[in-house]
Amino acid sequence: MPDSSLGSLKKMKKTDNGMILETSFGKAQVIVYNANIIRIRIAKGVLEPDFSYAVIATPEKTNFILTETKGLITLATDSVKLEISTSPVRFKFLTADNRLVNQDDTFGTNWVGDEVTTYKKLQEGEKFIGLGEKTGNLDRRGEAHTNWNTDNPAYQVDDDDLYSTFPFYIGIHHGLTYGIFFDNTYRSTFNFGASNDRFSSFGAEGGEMNYYFIYGSTIRQILSQYTSLTGHIHIPPIWSMGFQQCRWSYFPDTEVLSIARTFREKKIPLDVIYLDIHYMDAYKIFTWNPERFSKPAEMLGKLKDMNVHTTVIVDPGIKVEKGYKAFEEGVKQNYFIKYPDGQDYTAQVWPGWCHFPDFTKPVVRKWWGNNFAPMINDGVEGFWTDMNEIASWGGGFTPSIVQLNWDGRFASYRQAKNAYGMQMSRSTYEGTRSLMNGKRPLTLTRASYAGAQRYTAIWTGDNVASDAHMMLGCRLVNSLGISGMAFAGVDVGGFMGETSAKLFGRWITVGAFTPFFRVHKASNENSSEPWTYGESVENISRNYISLRYRLMPYLYSAFAEAHKTGIPVNRTMVIDNTLDENCWKKDYQQQFMFGPSIMVAPVESTREITKVYLPKGQWFDFFNGKQYEGEKEILIECPLDKLPVFAKGGCIIPMQTIVQSTSEKPSDTLFIHVYYGNEASDYNYYEDDGLTYSYENGTFLESKMSFQPADRKIVIEPLASGKFTSKFNTIVLILHGFEAVANQVKVNGKVSQPKATAIDLFNSIKPDDPLWFDSRKMDQQVMVINNVKAGEKNEITW
Ligand code: GLC
Repeated sequence: MPDSSLGSLKKMKKTDNGMILETSFGKAQVIVYNANIIRIRIAKGVLEPDFSYAVIATPEKTNFILTETKGLITLATDSVKLEISTSPVRFKFLTADNRLVNQDDTFGTNWVGDEVTTYKKLQEGEKFIGLGEKTGNLDRRGEAHTNWNTDNPAYQVDDDDLYSTFPFYIGIHHGLTYGIFFDNTYRSTFNFGASNDRFSSFGAEGGEMNYYFIYGSTIRQILSQYTSLTGHIHIPPIWSMGFQQCRWSYFPDTEVLSIARTFREKKIPLDVIYLDIHYMDAYKIFTWNPERFSKPAEMLGKLKDMNVHTTVIVDPGIKVEKGYKAFEEGVKQNYFIKYPDGQDYTAQVWPGWCHFPDFTKPVVRKWWGNNFAPMINDGVEGFWTDMNEIASWGGGFTPSIVQLNWDGRFASYRQAKNAYGMQMSRSTYEGTRSLMNGKRPLTLTRASYAGAQRYTAIWTGDNVASDAHMMLGCRLVNSLGISGMAFAGVDVGGFMGETSAKLFGRWITVGAFTPFFRVHKASNENSSEPWTYGESVENISRNYISLRYRLMPYLYSAFAEAHKTGIPVNRTMVIDNTLDENCWKKDYQQQFMFGPSIMVAPVESTREITKVYLPKGQWFDFFNGKQYEGEKEILIECPLDKLPVFAKGGCIIPMQTIVQSTSEKPSDTLFIHVYYGNEASDYNYYEDDGLTYSYENGTFLESKMSFQPADRKIVIEPLASGKFTSKFNTIVLILHGFEAVANQVKVNGKVSQPKATAIDLFNSIKPDDPLWFDSRKMDQQVMVINNVKAGEKNEITW
């Protein structure tokens, strides 16, 4: 059989930002984006005009040196060296000091028909993380995955085809880290040495080989580079970081109001309620069911009075029905995706026969977005785009010949499917944002593609009520986080199947530490509000949801960090402990940092005792203050009401008093918890109005807090950069593990008499409730210092 890989070099032409290579088999282009990112494009024939829905960066002017010797071209930036052998043309990436990072296998880039694949030599001990919403292990070595956005209700914990495509991974070996982003929307396959010990590979059924090689000396650096290419999240509305209750479906209006009222009566905090498909008239998008929701604005007003925001579901399927406005307009204006003969493509979903808007066409995106105006006038603030893989009955087998506009370039469904959901959420985000007078909408999607973090939050679709799904959900959220999607969550409690009280009890505790925190349940399943599982689970729910609200200043700052740097809210432990083998073990692979300072070890509902791995550093049990040294496996009790959660020594965690929703004002005191540790740390506290985009114009507040054990001080310093006034006037500093220095603590030079005290993290509970109270008190070694002034520089020394 003839060789079908990229052949030998015939001609090389230097360009401003790299070079173009002509080979005996095709063309390749090398584009330097910056000193750490080099893009490789390879095509059999000509290189098509460049276009991407994912990438928003353009190449920066970067210094590089190009040299040619016999058989070898070398391109060197300050950070990366690319060596290209010329016969045959193969690529090899090295560090500036010549350590091998990533290298083509002898197959190089290879075609079988239109299918194009790049093969890379597996390095000794190489590990892989990434690919977003994929089942499997944290370390994907030995796994292979396909990207083909699929509606997969009640998926198995090892099913491969889920709803979204994030063709980005990070490789790790010999203490080196690199990323590869393969920007190709066709069905793609990644093989990380599945049943082979020779190569890793990535390829697609069509289109170009088009990948960005990212070098970084840490995973953090690679995430920062990846998000500089594909974009950052906007800071979502603060209410979408609160607790959200969903059901397929709450109706009529009286039922919706009664659910919201019950949360208030039971003092379980709530910010958002969802309306699933039954709010519509015959499942027609942009309509209200006239019987079930006869006065939507009135209902939404009543919800608002209770400080509850409303999110509605929207599916892409537009019902084929004469007289229905969206249908008539879409047909008339050619807004729907079509067969090659011009007929609008039709398939069946909830409303029956439907047409589907072509979200890859700019005028359609505008039209779709503008259709939200009446709902926004009614008071809707959240928009949940679903079924956008595209799902349809009969397995969603949309024929490949269906055509999309692809922003004027035209694409078959084979090319467009994986990006359709992303473009639907984009249309929804852009439209609703422009209609909401400067207020932030919430957008949530099921199907997605790389870069969608710029438009939307994501949830992991129709999971199942089981411990295995709860644990998988943690891996999925962690994996989405390292694929740009910092705002991610799962259906807490499990969407399909009967949820036991125990499972719900555990899942709500895990959910409280998930960026997107929503309970959801399928129709025909058990009711799944926190009070439906008995008193003890109701108490667990109240306590953990309340704790989430107490942590809001910390969580909000973590979202701001994701917005600025690309570091996700939930962080797999290997981001900062890349070389610690224990963090990769299957027993511990679900563990994650919730923001910079809190470590969560999810555990099945069936367990009352579990093993946890504590990486390097000192750790404090978040609930009882017990101290541990890191780099140890520990056994810890985990009754249903006590999820293993730890604060990292040296870390800073700002908290507030409990509120029933983010619209309610907490007390004017910011409680800053500092945990003693041997290592110094910096913490960036962030605040803005939580609701508008004025932060984009500088209306925010940042405060740098640092713990400096060697200099025996804590410094809290407002930064001058923003122009927002904090909602907190007073600071109470809570020192954990400082008992050895208790009587030498000074605040701004004055001796302070800190009071040893117990902190009840769950102060909403009844003190006579034995189940909760005893185990929830911090030990007696916490010290509280009052009267530290907000808005001024403070130094606490000892
Ligand atoms: C899909 C969604 C689910 C929703 C249901 C009805 O299955 O994934 O969340 O409740 O459709 O709209």
